[in-house]
Amino acid sequence: MKVLVLGSGGREHALCWRLSQDESVEEVVAAPGNPGIVEDGFMCFDIDPTDPQEVCELAKDKFDLVVVGPEAPLVAGVGDALREIGISVFGPNKDGAQLEGSKKWMKDLLVEAGVPTAQHKSFESHELESALQYLEDIRKISNVELSVIKTDGLAGGKGVIVTESLEQARKAVQEYLSGDAFGQAGTTCVIEEGLTGPEISVFAICDGKDATCIGVAQDHKRVGDDDTGPNTGGMGAYSPVPFVDDLMIREIMDTCIEPTLKALQAREISYKGVLYAGLMLTPTGPKMIEYNIRFGDPECQILMMRLTGDLAMALKACADGELANILMQERKSEQLGLSDYNAITVVISANGYPVSPVLGNEISGISAANDIEGVKVFHAGTKIDDGHLVSAGGRVLNVTAIAADISTARDRAYEACGFIKLEGAHYRNDIAYQAVEVQD
Ligand code: AMP
Ligand code: GLY
Repeated sequence: MKVLVLGSGGREHALCWRLSQDESVEEVVAAPGNPGIVEDGFMCFDIDPTDPQEVCELAKDKFDLVVVGPEAPLVAGVGDALREIGISVFGPNKDGAQLEGSKKWMKDLLVEAGVPTAQHKSFESHELESALQYLEDIRKISNVELSVIKTDGLAGGKGVIVTESLEQARKAVQEYLSGDAFGQAGTTCVIEEGLTGPEISVFAICDGKDATCIGVAQDHKRVGDDDTGPNTGGMGAYSPVPFVDDLMIREIMDTCIEPTLKALQAREISYKGVLYAGLMLTPTGPKMIEYNIRFGDPECQILMMRLTGDLAMALKACADGELANILMQERKSEQLGLSDYNAITVVISANGYPVSPVLGNEISGISAANDIEGVKVFHAGTKIDDGHLVSAGGRVLNVTAIAADISTARDRAYEACGFIKLEGAHYRNDIAYQAVEVQD
């Protein structure tokens, strides 16, 4: 197969790296890609991955499979456009992309499907009074102080505020509904009860009818050690998660993923891609926080290190509505599975991330880091400037490591981080603390 990966971050670097190891794959290219992807020998094409026409011009008659990394191209209809010209795409059409593109749409679908989730209601800009009233009601109904305010559309990970007082919640609702927070396009909001418990990321690949779980990870959303400071896109992740066993995965598939696929089918949406379920393990069982329509970033990086079998064939089978064939595959080498290895990724971020990252600083030490056993450094936000590798995004590198146990994987990753030089860089020192505590 010839495979095109769309996107330019650490997730896409990891996808290229992993897909190229599959027996079924002859060539992997990326668009637009990044310097790390180029360095690993993959061709990159400088196009806008969210422009359906540009993507189709690049892909037409040249690729057997397009794997879409980020959500923006899917929300923009790149999946639909590629399917129209007969290309197999791993990633949903625009209709299915609403799961991530609109929180209101997603929550309505969860209710329709009977998936456990936080109690909530959606409000539009002219409904300020009833929204403020609901803030009081939801506190009484759920009996918790926390309430959560979310803007409806994509907001680059900044659209959610977890509020700890009524006053803070009222202020957030006013800012959202008036357009002060996200402009006129962001005036629909969802208000929901605050849930508590550990958060996990569950990844299921789907072919429209069937789904299979391909891994569970835990992300670290806050910028600072001990989960302090502002929320980010993710400062690191690890897998497997010691307190999630096969029984819990079965429960999540039965109560969340499969009913969601059925509800999508009932709306005549054939969802072909990954369902990334963000769940909270509450005292009353797993509850859905949100769906994403793509692999997590940085969770994808660790999954790519743990997955065994022919991933490209499995993604192509999803794209073609034939996942059942892969799940029943008898040849062990082609079955998709997860190794028993533990994987961790530590995000090296730019000075000032997430508020105002400083870009353009020179990066060195990556090859020394890569020389450590079990380590692979993926590029997340880098570019070449005048022949030098420099930072070009808030999250710059993903230092990823694998080992038989989580402590060794963590030691390897942090030893590798020690080799990376980037002025003002920051990384958390406690990634995977949840698993290390259990192991020790
Ligand atoms: P989302 O973009 O919906 O994933 O929200 C971002 C983050 O906000 C989540 O990863 C959670 O940490 C937090 N969050 C979202 N919804 C809730 C909720 N109902 N209760 C508590 N925390 C939440
Ligand atoms: N790591 C969180 C996300 O990809 O949304």
